[in-house]
Amino acid sequence: FSAFLTDTYHRQHDYLRISLTERCNLRCLYCMPEEGVPLSPAAHILTSPEIFYLSSLFVSQGVNKIRLTGGEPTVRKDILPLMQSIGSLRSKGLREIAITTNGISLHRKLDSMIESGLTGVNLSLDTLDPYQFQIMTRRNGFEAVMKSINRVLEMKKMGASIKLKINCVVMRGMNDREIIPFVEMGREQDIEVRFIEYMPFGGNKWSQKKMFPFKEMLENIRQKHPNIHSVQGHKNDTSKTYQVPGFVGKVGFITSMTSDFCGTCNRLRITSDGNLKVCLHGNAEVSLRDILREHNNGEPIDETTFQSIRETEIEKANGSISEDTPFGWGPREARLLQII
Ligand code: GTP
Ligand code: 5AD
Ligand code: SF4
Repeated sequence: FSAFLTDTYHRQHDYLRISLTERCNLRCLYCMPEEGVPLSPAAHILTSPEIFYLSSLFVSQGVNKIRLTGGEPTVRKDILPLMQSIGSLRSKGLREIAITTNGISLHRKLDSMIESGLTGVNLSLDTLDPYQFQIMTRRNGFEAVMKSINRVLEMKKMGASIKLKINCVVMRGMNDREIIPFVEMGREQDIEVRFIEYMPFGGNKWSQKKMFPFKEMLENIRQKHPNIHSVQGHKNDTSKTYQVPGFVGKVGFITSMTSDFCGTCNRLRITSDGNLKVCLHGNAEVSLRDILREHNNGEPIDETTFQSIRETEIEKANGSISEDTPFGWGPREARLLQII
């Protein structure tokens, strides 16, 4: 495993999350204000070739899972060719390609994505009531999201190897009465429903009162399903995994507010404007985009040029990475810069 993806806590960062856009076609109460978020100028956003270049660079260093996120990743016009190009990295060691989406337009794009190598869909859905959906997302679209869920399930039945997780942010007084119906989704379907503790984020008027803690979620579920029990998850999961005996699916809890999972975190992030972040929570960002564009007077570089820069730079870097400096994240970022 490449030294430059190993941090000074000996965590190996083999999972890369790439945000494709800040835009979104919903306005979930807990995420965005009605007017949306301020958008970066288009020229600041990474282009498809840049995203592909960075993906292949990270895969060459040992990243084996890439997740595309947003905003809403499917609002990018080039999402399908981009997915296809990332799919080509499977022969280079990329084992999982996943997307986090609100499912509004996934049903139209899913088949092509699966053909390109998509292995996981994390779909955000906070309510099973169309009326409540409109309140929580400030938009219509419940039917479209259900269509996407059904399409994933159909593709699974037809043999596609694809994991489906539903992310449900639980807000007190909003959708907390729907925990049991969500658990029910896993009775006959291979779905992992993950309940997420509501977090303060982007000025969302978070309050402790609206946060519904994991323990209380579990107590609620136990009243109906007393035998729900904890099962082994995957080693870098952000969630605690449970199962109701006899159910096909699983139940997960993302307890961001009541316990942390930093010790097993293996994620790196690239923001849509090309900054490398090592943690979701405010930390120094390094602009990979600026480094890439410096090679071409501020312009995005084409793929052929990328490849040749990469070959020479990696060669140089391989000779120069040596000392292990003991301060947290800094050293890994520094190594990455050398390699690019
Ligand atoms: P997989 O484990 O690959 O299924 O993905 P994931 O759960 O990391 O990704 P997803 O995009 O579905 O995010 C689900 C929730 O996890 C969101 O609420 C995120 O805010 C939270 N989350 C994801 N990564 C981190 C992280 O590094 N730190 C914290 N605190 N929360 C995270
Ligand atoms: N608190 C908890 N989860 C959130 N998400 C977005 N904003 C918040 C928040 N404030 C979730 C979405 C999506 C996932 C990527 O993050 O529901 O499923
Ligand atoms: Fe869009 Fe996801 Fe934010 Fe909802 S949570 S507004 S779907 S980015």
